[in-house]
Amino acid sequence: MRLRKKHFAIPELKENPKVDFEAKENKGHWQEIFNNKSDIYLEIGSGKGGFISQMAENNKDINFVGIDFETNALVYAGRKLKDLEVENARLLPINAEKLSEIFDNEISKIYINFCNPWPKNRQHKRRLTHPRFLEIYKKILKKDSIIQLKTDDLDFFNDSLKYFEDSGFEKLEVDYDKKIEGEDYIVTEYESKWRERNIPIKFAKFKF
Ligand SMILES: C[S@@+](CC[C@H](N)C(=O)[O-])C[C@H]1O[C@@H](n2cnc3c(N)ncnc32)[C@H](O)[C@@H]1O
Repeated sequence: MRLRKKHFAIPELKENPKVDFEAKENKGHWQEIFNNKSDIYLEIGSGKGGFISQMAENNKDINFVGIDFETNALVYAGRKLKDLEVENARLLPINAEKLSEIFDNEISKIYINFCNPWPKNRQHKRRLTHPRFLEIYKKILKKDSIIQLKTDDLDFFNDSLKYFEDSGFEKLEVDYDKKIEGEDYIVTEYESKWRERNIPIKFAKFKF
């Protein structure tokens, strides 16, 4: 996602109590940060925060952390969390490459929603489902945890299924045309664009 540089983004994020620029200090202590023993769910590539903000609002018994290195988008996620006044969500302006410096087998579920498909071979290692990232996720996930993927991109999806299998994740669910089911289903910002164009949403769930 290329967004025009917003000069207010970093200063505003730094003023936002829901945003943590010093997250490394919390490694191994995230439940203390949230002040409860609830599970911690992580969204990677939260963008403008529609998903994490609604998830946090609807699931007060779960702690949520959203990360994105694009501060020009994350600033809007920060506004959403602040407006909702949710206590159970935090945002980190970081690259997913750094996750194992920030969490220590503390995460029960990871969501990857409509991440960049990086179609060219030489770009594949930037995909958030590439085995190099899956190895990082293994370091932050608890036993019997879940990773959930949604995408519009068929080639990226098929490649990702293989990455998960090759990296030893157990396939729980694969759907090439995920329908919106029940009130709990959250449609992300990118997802609504694809659904408007009738592009089937690909969905997969894996266990680690
Ligand atoms: C296409 S947007 C999707 C945003 C949102 N999840 C949605 O579904 O509307 C992908 C997001 O992933 C973020 N992203 C991509 N690679 C990342 C990485 N290595 N670390 C952190 N964020 C990343 C991008 O900055 C972008 O905001």
